[in-house]
Amino acid sequence: MPGAPPLLECRNVAKFYGALAAVDGVDLAINRGETVGIGGPNGAGKTTFFDLISGLTKVSSGAVLYQGEDITGRAPYLLFHDGMARTFQVTSGFGGLTVLQNMLAAVIYGGGRTKPGLLIGRRDRERAMASLESFGLAGLAEKRVSDITVLARKKLMVATAVVHEPKILLLDEPVGGLLPTEVDEFIDLMRKLRDRGISIVFIEHVMRFLTAVADRALIMHQGKLIYDGAPRGLAKDAQVRSVYLGSEADSLEMPA
Ligand SMILES: Nc1ncnc2c1ncn2[C@@H]1O[C@H](COP(=O)(O)OP(=O)(O)OP(=O)(O)O)[C@@H](O)[C@H]1O
Ligand SMILES: [Mg+2]
Repeated sequence: MPGAPPLLECRNVAKFYGALAAVDGVDLAINRGETVGIGGPNGAGKTTFFDLISGLTKVSSGAVLYQGEDITGRAPYLLFHDGMARTFQVTSGFGGLTVLQNMLAAVIYGGGRTKPGLLIGRRDRERAMASLESFGLAGLAEKRVSDITVLARKKLMVATAVVHEPKILLLDEPVGGLLPTEVDEFIDLMRKLRDRGISIVFIEHVMRFLTAVADRALIMHQGKLIYDGAPRGLAKDAQVRSVYLGSEADSLEMPA
């Protein structure tokens, strides 16, 4: 839409812990349909940045806008009901519940229903199963989450996040700790989500994943954005090479 505000906008967003600027004056606009990958060294402020956007942590200064509206400090569950979903660096989920029960919790509570009642409707169950099916998790429906593989847990975390068709999905290190073939599976999965019209912003150290999935790359260092551009330009950027990529840069060299 011409003239439409960016999907997400950060204006001079900062977070201080005492003297430490975890996020230090980030200005950023993300438009609908973009797939943005965020990299940067440990402690650069990436997760804190997600926490500020998604309302988990209060900003020290600056503003966050979502679809043109100031959402600074709005609670995460309200943002979720408004189409902003996120996952976490440490894979979360209710370990004592089954895969299906986890998905049902997302279907019922994530949809903004305040009084779920004691009965789970047939439609809720069908919706949950269909969602598990689309992520290849239907066969694990009755398994406890504490008993399934890391890959399956990571997929479930994404599946529960997108069950209400968010406009924007924030993923914190979706493939950290996965095997190369599992990373390939996740690359396909991200492409499917993008084709569903979901704008994706993800943090990831696995550069192969970042360059395969993102059409725009951001690099953070000491709370600041030091790169915002095409993923293929990363390996050539002197500052990115020196603070982040090091020797990995040469293996990422791509034709312009
Ligand atoms: N609650 C907190 N209290 C004090 N300092 C914090 C807090 N949360 C984060 N920090 C500090 O803020 C900085 C940024 O941390 P953050 O977790 O955002 O980094 P990151 O880029 O996500 O790193 P990683 O790649 O290791 O996940 C770090 O120096 C961290 O120690
Ligand atoms: Mg982090």
